Amino acid sequence: MSLLAGKLGIVFGVANKRSIAWAIAQAWQKAGARLAFTYQGERLKENVEELAGTFGPDTLMLPCDVTKDEDIARVFAEVGQKFGKLHLLLHSVAFAPKDALEGDFLSTSREAFRIAHDVSAYSLIALARGAAPLMTEGGSIIGMTYYGSEKVVPHYNVMGVAKASLEASTRYLAYDLGPKKIRVNCISAGPVNTLAARGIAGFTDMLKHYEAHAPLKRNVLPDELGATGAFLASDGAAAITGQVIYVDCGYQIMGM
Ligand SMILES: NC(=O)c1ccc[n+]([C@@H]2O[C@H](COP(=O)([O-])OP(=O)(O)OC[C@H]3O[C@@H](n4cnc5c(N)ncnc54)[C@H](O)[C@@H]3O)[C@@H](O)[C@H]2O)c1
Repeated sequence: MSLLAGKLGIVFGVANKRSIAWAIAQAWQKAGARLAFTYQGERLKENVEELAGTFGPDTLMLPCDVTKDEDIARVFAEVGQKFGKLHLLLHSVAFAPKDALEGDFLSTSREAFRIAHDVSAYSLIALARGAAPLMTEGGSIIGMTYYGSEKVVPHYNVMGVAKASLEASTRYLAYDLGPKKIRVNCISAGPVNTLAARGIAGFTDMLKHYEAHAPLKRNVLPDELGATGAFLASDGAAAITGQVIYVDCGYQIMGM
């Protein structure tokens, strides 16, 4: 039996084939879900068309800059027209200006702080608000986070603070949307070599550090994030909401 048969979903955050969003989208589709995709802008349109196009010629693909309310409104209007309802939403979107991910945290500018929080945390609230009226049969909203939200990870800087905001927003959204049977959770992934990750100074050392120190002595694979994404979207996770689920080969439990 397909875990997500009959489910309708929307995926925010595919940039290329290495994107975590693409791994989760593939798992959702394999489990039987029908998906729509958004892409950040014209620059990424072709990539997303090439990938999402493999799910069928009529796959809905829409531009959406998550800092623009008008883009978000248009996306959910079009999804409403095409699907009529929605069950799944993946928020796999983050950004901070590069210089904020290189130097010390003390130097974070007001503007870098604003951008990081707008793109990486506030957008979850805006997307959940857009999706909720379509989730008439209940739903599952999933965000992507990282351990730098709770412990200091050198160079992660303002993104760690934005992830803390994303995780807290997940809990407040879970409370607001619980009565509508809409669940909201985060997956906290160990490091994965993606476009966004390569913007973090010292990222390759992070991969090595996890391999050496995580209980499983390796890094997480994108397929494993996909599998967790499929589980959280499924009825097997029907009583799980407001949580941060660590998919990091156990790294989070370590004290030393
Ligand atoms: N790669 C890792 O090691 C890792 C670990 C833990 C969590 N994460 C999180 O996973 C998520 C996905 O990142 P990824 O590693 O797959 O990298 P990625 O670069 O493939 O994905 C980031 C996505 O964010 C999108 N984005 C950025 N600004 C946007 C905007 N204004 N409007 C719309 N979309 C915008 C990009 O277009 C891109 O698709 C992010 O939230 C990231 O913080 C990544």
